[in-house]
Amino acid sequence: MDKTIIKNKNCRICSSQDMTLFLSLGEMPLANAFLAKKELTKPEPAFPLDVYFCKNCSLVQLCDIVDPKILFKNYTYLTSASRPLVKHFVDLSKEVADNFLQSASDLVVEIGSNDGVLLGGLKGHGQVLGIEPDEKIADLARNRGIRTLTNFFTSSLAEKVAKEFDKANVILANNVVAHINDLKDVFDGIKVLLADDGVFIFEVHWVGNLIGDGGFDQIYHEHLSYFSLNALNKAADLWGLKIVDVKKIPIHGQSLRVYMKKTGEVLNSVEQLLEEEGELGLLKESTYHDFAQKVKRSKDSLVSLLMGLKEQNKTIVGYGAPAKGNTLLNYYAIDGEVLDCIIDTTPFKQGLYTPGTHIPVLAPEVIKKQPPDYLLLLAWNYAEQIIEKEKWYLESGGKFIHPLNAVIL
Ligand code: TYD
Repeated sequence: MDKTIIKNKNCRICSSQDMTLFLSLGEMPLANAFLAKKELTKPEPAFPLDVYFCKNCSLVQLCDIVDPKILFKNYTYLTSASRPLVKHFVDLSKEVADNFLQSASDLVVEIGSNDGVLLGGLKGHGQVLGIEPDEKIADLARNRGIRTLTNFFTSSLAEKVAKEFDKANVILANNVVAHINDLKDVFDGIKVLLADDGVFIFEVHWVGNLIGDGGFDQIYHEHLSYFSLNALNKAADLWGLKIVDVKKIPIHGQSLRVYMKKTGEVLNSVEQLLEEEGELGLLKESTYHDFAQKVKRSKDSLVSLLMGLKEQNKTIVGYGAPAKGNTLLNYYAIDGEVLDCIIDTTPFKQGLYTPGTHIPVLAPEVIKKQPPDYLLLLAWNYAEQIIEKEKWYLESGGKFIHPLNAVIL
């Protein structure tokens, strides 16, 4: 039996089987599976990318689950490669230090701690411990002096950590809860590891942004859940935790920062967002069918813009090689015939080729040497900061294209 992929029949939160498929992006390679040159001639595994809506608890989710050992093999994502993300985490570390840590002996654990940027900001305010499954990325955090366990977070790991290190006053998890299939086990682990008065703070991309202005390209095999606060609140009710506060934050389009505790007063922010989501239609199946239609229309606009530019012999380079860019490039069938290359600041990605579309990823300096006519802003979530950073390019006559709405900036 093929163990590389399993098919969930039940909703990840409420176990209902009443789920509707509303968007099928076809068989796709894994969005972070960048290829070395010698791999380009080998067959590339591809997996279904189908998105479902649970009619019972409203969780939007993938049901085809790729084995995490394959999904996260040769992981290249580095927090420190995106300057705006580093700033975001420095700000978050200040909030945590000011509001949630009482003494330098308090324990802060981060799940999916990547190269240690967030915990780096908390060193000295508390004892910090990272949990990161990728060995080479965990090593980067260790080089910054962050104690890091190389592992996936599970309830059994939580028990070991609680025994060896103590209960945690703060547990952090950014952009990682959506990556986990067995959510209940994670919640069980949080209950084991969290001190009775501790707080679990996590950030997830918000489904309200996905179906609104935010890009469908946030859909890829790593992102198993596309959360609303309503769905998360059901999970918390079912599994014995409480959402006490929530904020909308401008990261990855728009995300939610959720504060969970074992007990405690619930702030108005929670009720307000639960209601707002109802008004936005996030609990209704028809909203997601409408979204699927919008995705098809946005494909047509970008592809016809790019084809028109190529007919005029314009040069186009991709800006940023985020995982989301690979959903977009593969679904829109944009390859090396359209983009000469893609530039990206992540050292691990440079010299490799994009999965499926085989476009070379190069260091950003290439556009200084030979500025293209257009830059396709695949890292659109950092548009403002990138345009600020690359003012010289605009001033020299270059233009950016926003890939989601095909607008020239
Ligand atoms: P990101 O949007 O964080 O993520 P995801 O992979 O989850 O879709 O990735 C942004 C990518 O863009 C990352 O590979 C770093 C790159 N990048 C640049 O090359 N230059 C920049 O100025 C910024 C902000 C990001």
